[in-house]
Amino acid sequence: MKTYSIALLPGDGIGNAVTEAAWDVLQAAAKASDFALEGTFFPWSCDFYKQTGAMMPSDGIETLRRFDAILLGAVGWPAEVPDSVSLHGLLLPIRKAFTQYANIRPHRLLPGVSGPLKSSAFDIVCIRENTEGEYSGAGGRIHQGTLNEVAIETSIFTWKGVERILRFGFEQARARNGRLASVTKSNAQRYSMVFWDEITQMLASEYSDIEVTSYHVDAMAARMVMAPETLDVVVASNLFGDILTDLGAAIQGGLGFAASANINPDRTAPSMFEPVHGSAPDIAHLGIANPIAAIWSGAMMLDHLGEKSAAQRIMAAIEATTGAGIGTIPGNHTTQTITKSVLQTIA
Ligand code: IPM
Ligand code: MN
Repeated sequence: MKTYSIALLPGDGIGNAVTEAAWDVLQAAAKASDFALEGTFFPWSCDFYKQTGAMMPSDGIETLRRFDAILLGAVGWPAEVPDSVSLHGLLLPIRKAFTQYANIRPHRLLPGVSGPLKSSAFDIVCIRENTEGEYSGAGGRIHQGTLNEVAIETSIFTWKGVERILRFGFEQARARNGRLASVTKSNAQRYSMVFWDEITQMLASEYSDIEVTSYHVDAMAARMVMAPETLDVVVASNLFGDILTDLGAAIQGGLGFAASANINPDRTAPSMFEPVHGSAPDIAHLGIANPIAAIWSGAMMLDHLGEKSAAQRIMAAIEATTGAGIGTIPGNHTTQTITKSVLQTIA
């Protein structure tokens, strides 16, 4: 039987409960579709940091490299470890080391979920650049703690990095409805963002079957609220994509429904699948975290591994669950009830 090896990194807070839920559902889908998933659990988290002084062991990246995929819950416990330490110690290094340059985030309303907008007929896929740009980590601080302090955080945009994410966006648009929205802020940022626009134009002539529109990020924020049904594939830099996908999560009913895939399209290293929501310390011990975002991310993992029908089976089970009003309103159902409902539909 075909077997995939999966690294399980539940991380912090609700990451634990939602990863467990997603893993149960993935196992059920695998069983129903005649393949196997072999999970290896890693306790890398803020607790691990408190015990060892690091978010993961020094050979953590090499350890993960041999897996077919990584399923991650959430990273961060700011009361005890600063987010800037925990994220740069685990999540961000994985995205960079494994060249997971495309962060795919779908935004649409699941059946039974009413979002905050009048418009409900939208189906957007955001493609966020995931390895460079504003989150490159290039910068520094001098004269720290004095009134002469200077902090610099430099955005890095490379031809290679910009071209590959745009190409990925064009390909996604080709596989969907043929429309690509490229997001910059080239009226104000005249180097990196003009560069991005130029590469968009260069590729547009190659992908003449795709309708390309460039938007400034502020206008895109408004469009996602006022006319989301006009959008198909949206491609943006790391920071802009980060912000727009929280907006995307909001219009799809909340972070409990926002799934994501950190993809290495060249398959030279494992890809990583995670819900967009964080560790949610405020509800971490209440048992009410919505596992749907994590389960949907798991479906994206199976899709990436080539197990398309199992992925569709999970999506159908999610849709049957929300369609029956389970998991649609925050706090109304427990993590367990929602997971059980998804499992029942899969079996
Ligand atoms: C996300 C998160 C992370 C990001 C944070 C936690 C570093 O907000 O996945 O969107 O910005 O990449
Ligand atoms: Mn974010």
